[in-house]
Amino acid sequence: MQSVKAERVPDYALRGGLFQSGPARRIGAVVPSVTLSAMTAPRLLLAPMEGLLDFVLRDMLTRAGAIERCVSEFIRVTDTLLPERVFHRIVPELRAGAVTPAGVPVRAQLLGSDPACLADNAARLAGLGPAGIDLNFGCPAKVVNRHGGGAALLDQPELMWRIVSAVRRAVPASMPVSAKMRLGVDDDAQALDAARAAAEGGACEIVVHARTKAQGYKPPAYWDRIAGLRQALPGLSIVANGEIWTLDDARRCQQASGCDALMLGRGIVADPGLAIAIASGGGRQLDWPAVLDLLADFWLLVGRHFEPGYRAGRLKQWLQFLRQRHPEAAEAYLRLRTVTDSRGIASGLFGVERAQALEQALGLPSELRR
Ligand SMILES: Cc1cc2nc3c(=O)[nH]c(=O)nc-3n(C[C@H](O)[C@H](O)[C@H](O)COP(=O)(O)O)c2cc1C
Repeated sequence: MQSVKAERVPDYALRGGLFQSGPARRIGAVVPSVTLSAMTAPRLLLAPMEGLLDFVLRDMLTRAGAIERCVSEFIRVTDTLLPERVFHRIVPELRAGAVTPAGVPVRAQLLGSDPACLADNAARLAGLGPAGIDLNFGCPAKVVNRHGGGAALLDQPELMWRIVSAVRRAVPASMPVSAKMRLGVDDDAQALDAARAAAEGGACEIVVHARTKAQGYKPPAYWDRIAGLRQALPGLSIVANGEIWTLDDARRCQQASGCDALMLGRGIVADPGLAIAIASGGGRQLDWPAVLDLLADFWLLVGRHFEPGYRAGRLKQWLQFLRQRHPEAAEAYLRLRTVTDSRGIASGLFGVERAQALEQALGLPSELRR
């Protein structure tokens, strides 16, 4: 197995901000592709993950290569027309052509249950130029479902149809409108009606998280249920999602669902090399030094964009995922889990010298510099 080391590139944040133009940095992009034996490599999408996978982590996870497209965290629509600043706050990539700094397109996701209000917001959002608009029919959160949004819509296919068609009509024909759904609320027998409603409403693609709302995040994911949807709706592009943590999972998911596109969520947060491993059939991966380089860049961006009180928490949140796949991250997490100050975290993870360089890069006053 060939491992890919991240090139040491000076922090791009120093070279003119988050969305500077210039050549995209893709850590894994230099390595020749590997011949696949059994199966064609799937197209890979990055999952929306509210509270975890924001623009900073999207930047990190798309640098490694092999991700074709991202979906933003959901933007919740209730009964108002949201100001543009809300869309820009959640999807700052909109200010840079709706691509991550590595050049990967970002669709913006809306969540709500009122077709007219969603349509008005979609029209405004479309004016900001996302790579498409995705509609959330999968969120299991009580606060969201109580207001009739997310997965609660799955047993109301007629309302789903009205939402998708209202949004479809409200945005230019050239703007892709897609939907992300689970298999149902309590019962996966609802899946076909829900998928058909989205398709007939005009969704060009649906992503199916292969579990019901009631199944939460409990393994397994029922990838074979997606195959049934594909058979019943042959004209619709369907992306499989759920429980893809390894190359082997990806292969089994592809086989069971028959999908040629997969969406990666927690698995790629735990292993930023997952997409390149899948795309290369196991020929490439990111080793720990490469992941540590990503963490250092992440730290700089977090330092640039978040208040000091949030920074340690953000780093530990990612470490908590990384420790599932990288023993070095598990060891670092154990060592640092009670540390709450930024300096302690940075020097504990990167070593004093590198932490000092990072702090200087951030332009913060530093005791470490003395
Ligand atoms: C913390 C967290 C936040 C999520 N936020 C969203 C979201 O904003 N929109 C959405 O459609 N799905 C959301 N999801 C669901 C994921 O996109 C994905 O469908 C799910 O995690 C299953 O894929 P995985 O097993 O690869 O993680 C979220 C999941 C998690 C764990």
